[in-house]
Amino acid sequence: MSISSDWINNIVCGSCFDLMRDLPDDTVDLVVTDPPYGIDYQSNRRTAREKLPKFANDISLEWVPEWVDEVHRVLKDNTHFYCFTRFDTYPVFYREIARRFDVKNCLIWVKNNHGSGDLNGSYAPQYEMIIFGAKGKRHLNGKRDSDVMECENVPSAQRFHATQKPVELLRVLIEKSSDPGDVVLDPFAGTGSCGLACKAASHHDGDGHERNFLLFELNPEFVRKARAGGLGRQEELLEVRRDKRNLAEPKQRSTIRARRYVARKDQSLWLALE
Ligand SMILES: C[S@@+](CC[C@H](N)C(=O)[O-])C[C@H]1O[C@@H](n2cnc3c(N)ncnc32)[C@H](O)[C@@H]1O
Repeated sequence: MSISSDWINNIVCGSCFDLMRDLPDDTVDLVVTDPPYGIDYQSNRRTAREKLPKFANDISLEWVPEWVDEVHRVLKDNTHFYCFTRFDTYPVFYREIARRFDVKNCLIWVKNNHGSGDLNGSYAPQYEMIIFGAKGKRHLNGKRDSDVMECENVPSAQRFHATQKPVELLRVLIEKSSDPGDVVLDPFAGTGSCGLACKAASHHDGDGHERNFLLFELNPEFVRKARAGGLGRQEELLEVRRDKRNLAEPKQRSTIRARRYVARKDQSLWLALE
């Protein structure tokens, strides 16, 4: 069995929890993703008229264990997995990823600017973390790089998504861990930075062989933005596939109870309750 050709080099609108079940075992060459961090994030940055919107599944992290199992299932043997996270949700992601993968590093992405947060009571946040795991053994391409990576953040004026990641940073990860012709999956694609990075990697290698991308994104607005930016196929209907696990829509916050993980925002620490 192989991945549906309709999905290759496309962004599919729907829940990755649902869509990943339709991917056969051992068919993906690399997963690079920036999932909801479980912090109910509201950016203070604005588009011309309004604040950038919150996104789904950013309240509880109860979906993480099953999702990591699915990432492991769809990846081929001897492949890599990069998962963005941050200091206060790192314990949850690390624990679940280490259950299935050989965690090799936690990469530190140092940005050229810093976020806001508690202006008087905390240091200015200027980095994010990327858990780097291996399924089996795979060498990194090219020279040996540091686990600290400096890369400019996406300028506010060019941002369509509150947590948009720089294409340049993703390109480096993709080139280190995939080869031309490979399929790179981002199950939480946002506005499709990972797809753009696959295109950039192909161009950068200059041998005419593309990295293929496969992007899933729940929010049709972000899918439209990605398609407007040249990813996927414009003419397709935006058919949203949801399942019962997409409970954590921002508006439903008061009804959400994380079964396994609870945010202790006062201590900026996530505690595993098991
Ligand atoms: C942290 S953002 C990713 C931003 C992306 N890296 C970019 O550069 O645009 C996480 C994204 O996951 C999406 N999302 C949340 N739950 C999802 C699900 N079940 N399936 C697919 N996408 C989901 C959100 O709508 C949000 O756009």
